[in-house]
Amino acid sequence: MPAFDNQPLQAIRSAFLDFTDDPFYTAESDSVRYISDGLLIVENGIITDFGEYNTLRSQYAHIPITTYPDRLIMPGFIDTHVHYSQYEMIAAYGEQLLEWLSKYVFPTERKFKDKAHAEKIATLFFDELIKQGTTTALVFATVHPESVDAFFEEASRRNLRMISGKVLMDRNAPDYITDTPETAYEDSKKLIQKWHKNGRLLYAVTPRFAPTSTPEQLHTVAKLLQEFPDIYLQTHISENKKEVAWVAELFPESQGYLDVYDRAGLVGEKSIFAHGIHLTDAEFERLSNAKSAIAFCPTSNLFLGSGLFKLTQAKSSQHPVKVGFGTDVGAGTSFSILHTAHEAYKVAQLQGESLSAFKALYLATLGGAKALSLEDKIGNFNPGKEADFIVLDPKATTLMATRNQSFPAQSLEELAQPLFGLMMLGDDRAIQAVYIAGKLAHSLAAI
Ligand code: GUN
Ligand code: ZN
Repeated sequence: MPAFDNQPLQAIRSAFLDFTDDPFYTAESDSVRYISDGLLIVENGIITDFGEYNTLRSQYAHIPITTYPDRLIMPGFIDTHVHYSQYEMIAAYGEQLLEWLSKYVFPTERKFKDKAHAEKIATLFFDELIKQGTTTALVFATVHPESVDAFFEEASRRNLRMISGKVLMDRNAPDYITDTPETAYEDSKKLIQKWHKNGRLLYAVTPRFAPTSTPEQLHTVAKLLQEFPDIYLQTHISENKKEVAWVAELFPESQGYLDVYDRAGLVGEKSIFAHGIHLTDAEFERLSNAKSAIAFCPTSNLFLGSGLFKLTQAKSSQHPVKVGFGTDVGAGTSFSILHTAHEAYKVAQLQGESLSAFKALYLATLGGAKALSLEDKIGNFNPGKEADFIVLDPKATTLMATRNQSFPAQSLEELAQPLFGLMMLGDDRAIQAVYIAGKLAHSLAAI
């Protein structure tokens, strides 16, 4: 199936919110774009025009308009870190990272040797992602090549822009779930050749984290990155104090956690590191210089008791680091990016800071796209971008309708309050419709 096939010209009218720049560095008036009565024009799955309804209406008078009154349309949400294989073990009780991995994660991931199981979970995963308004994600599969095939086959059927890869682990995990440097290399290479840039799909080489890869395996990862320079690298870093101490023991010659990856040649512009709770100042600086990204996963960091991510430090002017939101299910407790933004607000509050809805929703859209080096394709409504967008209902429940009486908003200033209400109270009930490459992929029945 071609990713962007022949579709008639479409026009969608509603209120629109997106970002043209980063509100962490640029005033909201110059970075947030709110059009209270706008028109989005889509042709063959690509945005071809966008602006005020009154300005564009005469130009498109010949095409039927789909109108969403009293709704807010945003670019599809972007999840920069999630494990599809952990769908079925979300909310596992009582442990922190290392014990949680051994007790719950590894036995669950073992099942993905069976392609039929992987297919079943991939279908459930995408159903859930879409109903939560997430249209792009950077996703861990498992060590089994079958898990990657199942994932990409289902993503391809749904024409989603997705990034994933086979997990690499050659030590400190049960035999039933490990590979070797050689099989890691050979299997990854075949999967890259099969899936990278196949339609909207992209490949990420995926060493799980430093403790489960030998230095030899990390070097095979570097070899893959050299052979295929436009693929991604995804892994975990500095999530938990015991993990950080273990990495220091396992790699005594390294100057710190990030240095383990750096010495192997894994720290670059298309590297996305999940968590980074315990990064040092020097490590933040190095990530900034390397233009690498961090996936901020607040629901996971609170659930596993890992700690509080220093968003203000990551988004400093001196050493800015690209940041996106990650749900990190199954350590994360929700697939909802609205929930993730809600918990990010609380993580900021615990550090004496306030995360505005505009900043949070920037991380959920254009910020996530930049973290994934996809800002030329997704993340806002600029013409030329792929038409992945969601229709939000800020009054989806009785409570939300009462809290958000001031919506629809006529101006950016008026939007701030109901938007914060949506971020703090919203979930899948607020995601009324989801469009993928211009096609309606999900719609809530009228309540
Ligand atoms: N570190 C290594 N593997 C994992 C994982 O599956 N989840 C989380 N949250 N951290 C990890
Ligand atoms: Zn993770």
